[in-house]
Amino acid sequence: MKTKIAVLVSGGGTNLQALIDAQKAGTLCSGEIALVVSNNAKAYALERARNVGIPTAVLLKKELGGQAGFEKALGETLDSHGIQVIILAGFMSILSGDFTKRYPKRILNVHPSLIPSFCGAGFYGLRVHEAALSYGVKVTGATVHFVNEVPDGGEIIAQKAVDILPGDTPERLQRRVMEQAEWILLPRAAEQVCAAIQNSEEER
Ligand code: GAR
Repeated sequence: MKTKIAVLVSGGGTNLQALIDAQKAGTLCSGEIALVVSNNAKAYALERARNVGIPTAVLLKKELGGQAGFEKALGETLDSHGIQVIILAGFMSILSGDFTKRYPKRILNVHPSLIPSFCGAGFYGLRVHEAALSYGVKVTGATVHFVNEVPDGGEIIAQKAVDILPGDTPERLQRRVMEQAEWILLPRAAEQVCAAIQNSEEER
């Protein structure tokens, strides 16, 4: 049985697309994307999921009574789909320690910098690249890591460096980091984690 994956999204969903493409190409074969959850009803990522027939759910904090209500509904939605692995792919909300401790080494996140640089609360999306450019670093990159109670603080699974080039804007840098690092690392890490779960289940 393939490991059931839920992908949590908030926006454009290019990392979700990379996972969908990897599944189609067969490089993501130990797991299957069984659900896409968005905390934003307008996220284009939902469209990407619907285009390929992946079930979707929209959970809005403000309709669910805040973080605790959101996480309760999220847990129930994941359980009802038999989800084993959660991938945060451009998910712009921090999950509480109470939630993450229920899924030890079962939640992955992709972050657009080389952790521990430019990470933690307040560093998300374009802001990460703005911070890298304003600091003046010459190399940045992306990190895939397990999620625990510390924002961007869980064990690192994979990293890839990307050069910063003269004249870069946050948008250009974001695109290069996605193309050269995120879209490659995330599907690979997803396969690695799902394959390890399959192997450990076979051993039992
Ligand atoms: C990606 O660069 C992702 O690494 C980043 O937001 C972008 C979302 O793109 N995530 C974070 O900053 C989370 N801390 P996408 O919606 O096109 O995948």
